[in-house]
Amino acid sequence: MTKKISHEELQKIVTSVPMLSASASQLLQLTAKEDHDLIDVINLVRNDANLTARVLKVVNSAAFSLVNKVTSIDRAISYLGERIIVSIAIGDCAGKLFQKELSGYEAAGGDLWKHDLRTAIASREVVFQSGVDLNPALAFTAGLLHDIGKALISDYLQGSVIDAVEIVSAEEELNYLDAEEILVGFDHTQAGYELAKAWQLPEELAEVIRHHHNPANAKEEYRLLVYAVHLGDNIAMMGGFGTGSDSMRYKLDNNYKNYINITPNSLATVMLNVDIEFEKLESSLNNSGDET
Ligand SMILES: [Fe+2]
Ligand SMILES: [Fe+2]
Repeated sequence: MTKKISHEELQKIVTSVPMLSASASQLLQLTAKEDHDLIDVINLVRNDANLTARVLKVVNSAAFSLVNKVTSIDRAISYLGERIIVSIAIGDCAGKLFQKELSGYEAAGGDLWKHDLRTAIASREVVFQSGVDLNPALAFTAGLLHDIGKALISDYLQGSVIDAVEIVSAEEELNYLDAEEILVGFDHTQAGYELAKAWQLPEELAEVIRHHHNPANAKEEYRLLVYAVHLGDNIAMMGGFGTGSDSMRYKLDNNYKNYINITPNSLATVMLNVDIEFEKLESSLNNSGDET
């Protein structure tokens, strides 16, 4: 039996989780801008000693098998790319949130991070394979953050998986978001949106978090990005990497075709590339992490 979360409680939950560091926050603001310079990213990382150390550790990790050790931060960032820098920065601040066991979804610790990382890679690949006019690094970041609300409401959904599945099965129009709202008062997109505001995320990222299951509701100017992540999310789930009980219990909005022109062959390539890139990214980020 679940208990509904009030607005006040949701605000308390949001303020009880780690905040982003100043450099992570600035990095998200900067990389969301279409016309930013890499030199600004380099300067930002350079001014944060911990982040610099982590970036160098990642680039020199076994996953990248570089012959020569990279010691300069600008070379490291050029080699890794912005998306990996953003992953490191977010992981450092909010790693616990992403690694949390989602007992309310019967998902193990780390499943959310894996799902988010796969969604991030898939969203970026969708941009590449379709050639849409979107910043691929922004699609990646948005994918990484899209389901963060699950970490906020999971504990409150504990023991209710059977009820949630029953709700979704009972009526054709209901999906897992409806089940979350019926059971605890908020769905994970609403909870995630509250965190996005507390973290002062750029508006485009907040819109993805809020509307990734219903992209048609996103503001027109961000709708393409939201559709790219919507597709990336579904690709991650189709690949068998969801977050437990809710996986594949959402509807794919086929209107993505009005925004993203991608052939079935290209979608198959996306799925393949997600597997390859995931192995590399996950091991490089994990092996250089938690002991700091
Ligand atoms: Fe979601
Ligand atoms: Fe998702």
